[in-house]
Amino acid sequence: MKLTIYGGRRLFGDLKVEGAKNAALPLLAATLLTDDDVFLQNIPDVGDVRTMIQILEHLGKRVEPAHPRDSYLIRTVEPPPSSAPEYLVRKLRASFCLFGPLVARTGKAQISLPGGCPIGVRPVDLHLKGLRALGAQIESLGNLFHAQAERLHPAEIYLDFPSVGATEQIMMTAALIPGRTVISNAAQDPEVHDLARLLIKMGAGIMIEPGRLIIEGAPHLQGTSHRVIPDRIAAGTFLIAGAIAGGDVTVHCQPLHLEALMSKLDELGFEIQEHVESIRIISEGPGSYGGGRVEARPYPGFATDLQPQMMALLALARGTSTIKETVWESRFSQAAELAQMGARIRVDGATATIEGVERLRGTVVRGSDTRAGAALVLAGLAAEGVTTVIDSEGHIARGYADLAGALNGLGADIILEEASEEKEVVASGRE
Ligand code: EPZ
Repeated sequence: MKLTIYGGRRLFGDLKVEGAKNAALPLLAATLLTDDDVFLQNIPDVGDVRTMIQILEHLGKRVEPAHPRDSYLIRTVEPPPSSAPEYLVRKLRASFCLFGPLVARTGKAQISLPGGCPIGVRPVDLHLKGLRALGAQIESLGNLFHAQAERLHPAEIYLDFPSVGATEQIMMTAALIPGRTVISNAAQDPEVHDLARLLIKMGAGIMIEPGRLIIEGAPHLQGTSHRVIPDRIAAGTFLIAGAIAGGDVTVHCQPLHLEALMSKLDELGFEIQEHVESIRIISEGPGSYGGGRVEARPYPGFATDLQPQMMALLALARGTSTIKETVWESRFSQAAELAQMGARIRVDGATATIEGVERLRGTVVRGSDTRAGAALVLAGLAAEGVTTVIDSEGHIARGYADLAGALNGLGADIILEEASEEKEVVASGRE
């Protein structure tokens, strides 16, 4: 894909975000825990979700589009096999969450190392630690993991880091193991809690305590229906778009999930109004706000998935800002691209120092992961002239249903085209 952004348009209006990709993916995986029908609503039409649906269809499910829009009825057509198709698993990180449910259902499972955005080493040791504690014997052969379990049992598991995926993996598996499993230092992201709500409706008992999740598993789980929470990262991306472009934007979302972002935008000098189900941002655009310090941390800290977009915003702030990334080891790929547009950013390990500049200028830049790509689009909204974001791997569409269309609905001027790779487009002087 290639996005051509004609900079300098202010953004005005309202927008409703789609369901959360990072909630929908584990919810879809959890449907493997039952043979009953599961009805899921508010599933976003993004690339990663489409891949997860394809994987489920290889694992004995039929995933039928239903009403209302963005709903799916997931039915079982045959019992799950024990292995997931490698070529699909390798397309996204969240596919690894199928490992535990497959072991819990079939007593054995085979899965390959997952793929996903290139933002660090992305080990799976905490997933394996959790599954081993629950009684699975796991061996690895090259990129493939084989698990076998005569009988799974509940366990007390401490996670060295509150990994979102490992917490979800263990929670799903434990939901199908009678008895009490405790996850300490568990991730407490809204997407993890959304999965807990689905598992409770399916018949598991889950108690959420500060830092801990207590799961009372059941021998069988049942069908149910569930509506996915709104996408807080998409919401945050649109709020930062309003901030950087200038204008008056209202995003319909769940404000409780965006407290760290709202507090930071307020601190930088934007006018933020929080309502029950929406957030409004009023901005005078580049140069009207100050710099600040951002530290990307596990929830409820500032979301790492909004860190690249924040870097674009801070590139046009008055004064010096710093960003520290504590979740992923390599998530500053947008810095060099923003520098091509005139930003002044120095990266030193996990910290980036940003000297605000008065203007960015449009040029050709490359997005190498979903959020870095989105950050460059946002920078293009505020840049002088034309910015072309080359997204040859289609990363942006893996995480956003229609980023360009949504921004155009607010007044942006973005053209989305299939990229003819390497045939770079030079900025033209379109008004
Ligand atoms: C989820 O990834 C999200 N993806 C990511 O969003 C998000 O950045 C991340 O959580 C953190 O919030 C989905 O939910 C599908 P983690 P996940 O396990 O679960 C280390 C996006 O742009 N770690 O919490 O893979 C890991 O290396 C994506 O939408 C281990 O060391 O994240 C990382 O440094 C990108 N061992 C940290 O923990 C493990 O076994 C956080 O990873 C697992 C993780």
